[in-house]
Amino acid sequence: MKPLKIAVAGLGTVGMGVLTCLAKGGEALAQRAGRELQVVAINARSRGKDRGMVLDHIPWTDDPVALARSDADVVVELIGGEGGVALDLAKAALSAGKHFVTANKALLATHGAALAALAEKNRSALRFEAAVAGGIPIVKAMRESFVGYGVRSVRGILNGTCNYILTRMEATGNEFADALAEAQRLGFAEADPELDVGGGDTAHKLALLASLAFGTAPDLAQMSVTGIRHLTYDDIRFAHEFGYRIKLLGIARQMPHGIDQRVQPAMVKIGTPLADVDGAFNAVMADVGEAGPYFFEGRGAGAAPTASAVVADIVDVARGANGPCFGVPAAELSALTPALPDSRRAAFYLRFAVLDMPGVLAEIAGRLAESGVSIESMIQRGRSPGEPVAIVMITHESPEPAVARALKVIAASDKVLGNPCMIPMETG
Ligand SMILES: NC(=O)c1ccc[n+]([C@@H]2O[C@H](COP(=O)([O-])OP(=O)(O)OC[C@H]3O[C@@H](n4cnc5c(N)ncnc54)[C@H](OP(=O)(O)O)[C@@H]3O)[C@@H](O)[C@H]2O)c1
Repeated sequence: MKPLKIAVAGLGTVGMGVLTCLAKGGEALAQRAGRELQVVAINARSRGKDRGMVLDHIPWTDDPVALARSDADVVVELIGGEGGVALDLAKAALSAGKHFVTANKALLATHGAALAALAEKNRSALRFEAAVAGGIPIVKAMRESFVGYGVRSVRGILNGTCNYILTRMEATGNEFADALAEAQRLGFAEADPELDVGGGDTAHKLALLASLAFGTAPDLAQMSVTGIRHLTYDDIRFAHEFGYRIKLLGIARQMPHGIDQRVQPAMVKIGTPLADVDGAFNAVMADVGEAGPYFFEGRGAGAAPTASAVVADIVDVARGANGPCFGVPAAELSALTPALPDSRRAAFYLRFAVLDMPGVLAEIAGRLAESGVSIESMIQRGRSPGEPVAIVMITHESPEPAVARALKVIAASDKVLGNPCMIPMETG
């Protein structure tokens, strides 16, 4: 069989990881792929950069989009970004009938449905295993392995930076800013961390998981996204006292009248699988009805894990795998109907910083009661001189909008300092 000719755009962490993995894999990889895997063109921004590997024998192309006109069978995009050159290359490659493999979640969360349609029109494969949870083979599982019973919900720790920061806050007692600075020093966080700590990166990955699970077009607009900046060490400590850990979760659930998609910090019960995921690791839990649940854990980023997922996609392409990339034909991806706000019910952790004055507790409890929210347990801590008092409560299961409404009123009280913190308790 003829070799599979590969063009690689982007030679950074993942791109060089892929070239290394392909070079190391050699014969064994060719055997798995059923044919030789041959890199015939590469591109990055600066040609002269030392990339720690001799690349002189591979033809260089200055313009990444020109890779679509090369003799490659598959174009591998490892540049990044939701639009710009990555999008131009995706469109050009698929239009030219090339197969397209990418690790780019931002690109697919935004343009996934259109690119899937373009791929199908041109009978090209579009594959993105590395775009969600790095080395964990969750995209293939969601697309192919769970079809028998269908996915009811998927929950994941999808951002290693956030999980590292939360793990370190818990271990050291540091506040968010110090834990973030440590993560940046050690290379676990970018110089501009907003996409990670603001929840945007998790949102991109969740949009893809939701699409794979429910046959809907990826839809970032119908997703509520809250990051981890507002969390304090106190929240982590109180969570522990109640038997929980705080994790940033991406959650997509089929509800009676639509799909609930959300990125938010959540209380996860100690002793359940998601609670044990530490440091920069990722994990995904899929509820597959009678056949599930399934739990996947592994490295969500880094050269080798991400390259491992990219190379798995390349091998699939070499074998001729070419089904619809989101599991259902692009033309049949439905528009996502968001769940009704009231259908989202949970018990909530609430933290208030208050002035230590008579009547403040009664006022908070009263406002919650007016919204129909009752309290299951409570902790009130004495004051260190000059500091506000923390009041922490766990509510009984309540509709989320009712709790949010009560908190808005409570936040307006002159006895309450700053915004109250509200975190749902995840079950299972
Ligand atoms: N890093 C991870 O662990 C990881 C995990 C999962 C998914 N991903 C995804 O994988 C993709 C690549 O990430 P990465 O971490 O490898 O990024 P990176 O280290 O920043 O590498 C990006 C590469 O793209 C090249 N590039 C940037 N702009 C370009 C342009 N306009 N034209 C041509 N080349 C350009 C850069 O060239 P120079 O080297 O010449 O500057 C560099 O080689 C992203 O979509 C990312 O979200 C990354």
